[in-house]
Amino acid sequence: MINVTSLKNSRLQSTDFNNLPFGMVFSDHMLICNFKNNSWGPIQIKEYGDISISPAAQVFHYGQSVFEGMKAFKDSTNNILFFRRDENFKRINQSAKRMAIPEISSEIFYDGLNTLLKLDSEWCKSDPGFSIYIRPFIFASEPCIKASSSNEYTFMIILSPTKTYYSDPIHLLIEQEYSRSASGGVGFAKAAGNYGASFFPTNLAKKKGFTQVIWTDSKNHTNIEESGTMNIWFVIDNILVTPKLSDTILGGITRDSIIKIAIDLGLTVEERDISVDEILDSSNIGTLSEAFGTGTAVSVLPISSITFKKDKIEFNNLESIALKLKERLLSIQKGVDLNNYGWIDKLNIN
Ligand SMILES: Cc1ncc(COP(=O)(O)O)c(C=O)c1O
Repeated sequence: MINVTSLKNSRLQSTDFNNLPFGMVFSDHMLICNFKNNSWGPIQIKEYGDISISPAAQVFHYGQSVFEGMKAFKDSTNNILFFRRDENFKRINQSAKRMAIPEISSEIFYDGLNTLLKLDSEWCKSDPGFSIYIRPFIFASEPCIKASSSNEYTFMIILSPTKTYYSDPIHLLIEQEYSRSASGGVGFAKAAGNYGASFFPTNLAKKKGFTQVIWTDSKNHTNIEESGTMNIWFVIDNILVTPKLSDTILGGITRDSIIKIAIDLGLTVEERDISVDEILDSSNIGTLSEAFGTGTAVSVLPISSITFKKDKIEFNNLESIALKLKERLLSIQKGVDLNNYGWIDKLNIN
């Protein structure tokens, strides 16, 4: 059962779609569903706005919270195309399990998304470059400051219209001191605390003029893991190389999609350990031709430079494989390329 209270005056007309700072503009409605007495209650969809929450809610004290980041697009006939949302559904429940949060049912996720996106479909423009960023999240909401897992949770979905922008060149610093995650920890999950813990070292790098850090393994800082909210890729000897997944790396849905698209484009893909030394050596001998990141928010993003101590590797990104992969990914996401591996889930709006 979905309880819908739609608002009377949409904010659509007063929203400037040519100026959408990422993650700061939200659609008219949001979804809320509460977990209490061992079960998830009815889904409510209502006007987007502030919520009331106890200062004792466990999420504020112990950080029990997970989220997802996914996108939907509009095709030329104005229908909504969800991109690989089954993977986001799987991943939010994997993250939830690791954080001792009760999993959500497929009804809550899919029926909730369908109803919300139908209501706010106008917030997703069909013009090139536009999409809607979908943020499902779950947090511990029981008012109790005892250090134990919560008995109450809140699941919400909010929607943020976005436009792919041509970002400034990205300059990355290989992190040598701090770690994003450690083996046995929660690095593979989209747990809120992973991001909170990453901001301090990232800000240190930003102060030195870098865009982001490249995380290395927490034991020795010798192997490359990922960067910011992106999985990372290198082209070495014309082979596409990306770190193999482990419990310290978030298994990106874009990463998985790029592996399949790249193989179909005739490229060789290797998922394996990549050491900082290998990157420096292959750059020195001229076999490292490009590097890029992949993620829902950035799609496929060419990297302009990578710095390690006194060494700086620069890429010119002229004939980039990254841009070819991005083009194919976007044409699948927009419903133009129908050879889409079954990744598109269409919601008829008309
Ligand atoms: C830490 C981290 N790595 C990688 C990714 C890329 O994952 P995806 O392609 O599923 O967006 C993200 C973004 O979700 C992330 O937060």
